[in-house]
Amino acid sequence: MTHEMIRVSKAVFPVAGLGTRFLPATKASPKEMLAVVDKPLIQYAVEEAYAAGIREMIFVTGRNKRAIEDHFDTAYELEAELIAQGKNSLMALVEEIKPNDMDCVYIRQPKALGLGHAVLCAERLVRDEPFAVLLADDLMVGTPPIMKQMTDLFAQYQCSILALQDIPPEHTGRYGIVQGKPLATDLIKITGLIEKPHPSVAPSTMAVAGRYILTPSIFNRLRTQTRGAGGEIQLTDAIAALLAAEQVLAYRYKGQRYDCGSKLGLLQANVELGIEHSDIGEEFSAWLKSKKLFGTSTK
Ligand code: UTP
Repeated sequence: MTHEMIRVSKAVFPVAGLGTRFLPATKASPKEMLAVVDKPLIQYAVEEAYAAGIREMIFVTGRNKRAIEDHFDTAYELEAELIAQGKNSLMALVEEIKPNDMDCVYIRQPKALGLGHAVLCAERLVRDEPFAVLLADDLMVGTPPIMKQMTDLFAQYQCSILALQDIPPEHTGRYGIVQGKPLATDLIKITGLIEKPHPSVAPSTMAVAGRYILTPSIFNRLRTQTRGAGGEIQLTDAIAALLAAEQVLAYRYKGQRYDCGSKLGLLQANVELGIEHSDIGEEFSAWLKSKKLFGTSTK
């Protein structure tokens, strides 16, 4: 890497997973198009990347993912109809999905061989630059947005950075788990990384959440990566291999994560973001209270 300051200008969205935990909803449409209140998961993630100054969005898609391409494309018929009906605020909402200075590119992962393999599929679009990876099924809410927190850190440290979350010990088998030493407030220098360890062998309860900034050297590791946990080519294993050559940091982000790859997480996100929604928040809160599902506090 040169001494010149490098910026993160590209984001990779791996959206080629099978989404089996949401069957039958995901039989013919992608998990990333599931909505939280009125917006699909993938749009939350793209908006987060955009807020971090990223303008090139790279989607690694698979079968049944046409809806994602359509979502970020112009919808002539719909737009003409909204204009004809004078529905200007709805028209603005539709136009905001893809700002003019944002590029969307698509590449296919021929087979769902794992997250690591999906990221490798983006190599010829990313080329020799650091890049962000956002897993849209992890809905992350923060001020500033989580990826912005991470790109600000990248500007300072110029190395790979993973989002970190503390989890209950019994959940280590669901995540990549970090071993490391504190470097600064909320920042850990990673010394080891292990994918989905059983609680009895997990080195810590610090888990990797679905936001990464990676240096392009990850591609060399991914190319030679053998299948790991679940028979998949794991991004975590390739990052673990990178540790011998480069500093990798884990950042305890400020904000809230909803695991929208699970039914429970998607429901929780819908309730919490529904309560805060500008259109329906008040009415929804009143309904929850009437059903005795919701107390006086919103959190
Ligand atoms: P998950 O581990 O949640 O897998 O992937 P999944 O297939 O999407 O869902 P389940 O477990 O069957 O319900 C984490 C992220 O990695 C992407 C997914 O789209 C999701 O954003 N992914 C996973 C790929 O792009 N390709 C893969 O081969 C695997």
